Amino acid sequence: MKNKLLLFSALGLCVFLLSNFKIHTNSFIFTVVNEEPELPEVPFSYEDVEFPEHLLSTEIDTLDPGYRSGGVDTLAFELLENDVATLGRVLFYDKKLSALENISCASCHRQSLSFAENKPFSEGISAPTRRNSMHLNDIAWTNNEDFFWDMSQTDLTEMISLPLTDENEIGANMDEISVKLGLTNYYPELFENAFGDQEINEGRIVDALVNFISSMTTFNSRFDQEAANGFEGFTQQENLGKELFSINCSTCHSQGRHADIFIDFPMDPETSTLEFMPFLFNNGLPEDPDDHGAGEWNPAFSNLFKLPTLRNIELTAPYMHDGRFSSLEEVVNFYSKESETNEWSIFIPDGGFQFSDQEEKALVSFLKTLTDDSFLTNPRWSDPFGNSTSIPENGFDDLVIKPNPFSEQSILEFDNSLGKLTSINIYTSGGRLMKHDNFTSNTYAFNKTEFSPGIYIIEIIQGDRRQTQKLIVN
Ligand code: HEC
Ligand code: HEC
Repeated sequence: MKNKLLLFSALGLCVFLLSNFKIHTNSFIFTVVNEEPELPEVPFSYEDVEFPEHLLSTEIDTLDPGYRSGGVDTLAFELLENDVATLGRVLFYDKKLSALENISCASCHRQSLSFAENKPFSEGISAPTRRNSMHLNDIAWTNNEDFFWDMSQTDLTEMISLPLTDENEIGANMDEISVKLGLTNYYPELFENAFGDQEINEGRIVDALVNFISSMTTFNSRFDQEAANGFEGFTQQENLGKELFSINCSTCHSQGRHADIFIDFPMDPETSTLEFMPFLFNNGLPEDPDDHGAGEWNPAFSNLFKLPTLRNIELTAPYMHDGRFSSLEEVVNFYSKESETNEWSIFIPDGGFQFSDQEEKALVSFLKTLTDDSFLTNPRWSDPFGNSTSIPENGFDDLVIKPNPFSEQSILEFDNSLGKLTSINIYTSGGRLMKHDNFTSNTYAFNKTEFSPGIYIIEIIQGDRRQTQKLIVN
């Protein structure tokens, strides 16, 4: 059931394009960017994860409430294998996985940004993602069981595997991918190293990706270093921030064993919702009419979103499921002055925590102590192809759609005086392609008769220029 929602997952999106690529073949410029990957002779070690003492200790209350010890689920790490993760690294960065060979996992999950993106929505090949790309640091030990902003996926292997295979939703043909990878100089050997023979299949591809992303741990922030010596090296401001965080924020954002603090939380065992409870929350953002979070797979959880880990949070702006805040200052200011109380954000007073300016600054500087710079440059997780993984974005400076929102008719306009062939794709807000058309004029008209009220995503493509825009129909 929940998997239906995977339609929106951007991971799926990259493969979803396989089914649509005929539409686009004229409009994209093909560039072969990937040569062969450069890999170390002895594989990097992904298996030996060194856990800092404060995460392994089984004593519970030695540290602040937000940082319970004993929080690491070491099982996830014991299953990692160096050769499998090495293959995963290549797959993660290899644009060959996508039909048009112009997108990889890393296009939306960049190492320099703790495997997140620096814009609210990422560009898939044919439509923007519906939600803000999520950082992948600490996947294995934070919320090892629940994925996506709405936590609709409870198993990492299934999460990666489903959108790759479901014909109706994404329509990827895994056989084609397997053949394609088999024809390269490097995959047969990588599969052999990883699995003992050269067979390439979906299960192995997924396994390798899971091994690779599960190995991404950040245990080397200043916070971790200071935790070992009682935070003596923290500035006064950082210590104030830590104190404020422990009192006000760690009720939800605990970095340790999340379940500890929810033991007394009232819940109804009959509804068997318990397994999801510790991780889904609402933080008092005004209701988002475009996105009901977990409410999309269970109405009882409307407007609840995953509690993201705040490790490396400094690097993963913009923030929240829709990337609405562009800085940590804005986030803290929101919690301070604007947050609204509802039954799921009871830990936040109505109207916010009312921090002073000095306290807001202290919270921001504390959040920055969670940054682990070594994670961003660690070669284990780096691009073996050495390519830039960003998608070039050449938009149309002068493109306007007016009126927008519209009730009867709206016109898209831009300078196309050379009469170049231009493609237009119209998507529902859920990413489903509704209409495809070509034109060579300066304008394109939208008529009310073709739409029901709602939000649509318009994509214009001309040569290597491409732009997406929201269209609202009243
Ligand atoms: C076009 C951009 C894009 C591509 C390509 C992409 N992702 Fe994502 N990824 C996202 C977005 C957006 C989300 C959040 C989706 C949601 O919540 O609905 C996400 C979520 C995830 C999550 C869940 C993280 C969490 O904490 O719950 C994982 C894991 C993930 N992606 C891994 C991958 C892997 C592996 C690949 C390549 C096979 C990939 N992604 C390709 C954009 C992308
Ligand atoms: C009631 C639970 C709750 C409390 C208390 C809370 N948060 Fe959150 N926080 C959340 C949820 C849920 C999200 C994700 C919301 C979304 O995307 O819609 C979130 C998101 C965030 C994000 C953005 C994460 C990202 O990856 O984009 C930051 C930063 C953050 N919180 C910091 C704080 C700070 C600082 C405090 C204390 C002042 C705090 N939070 C208190 C539940 C909470």
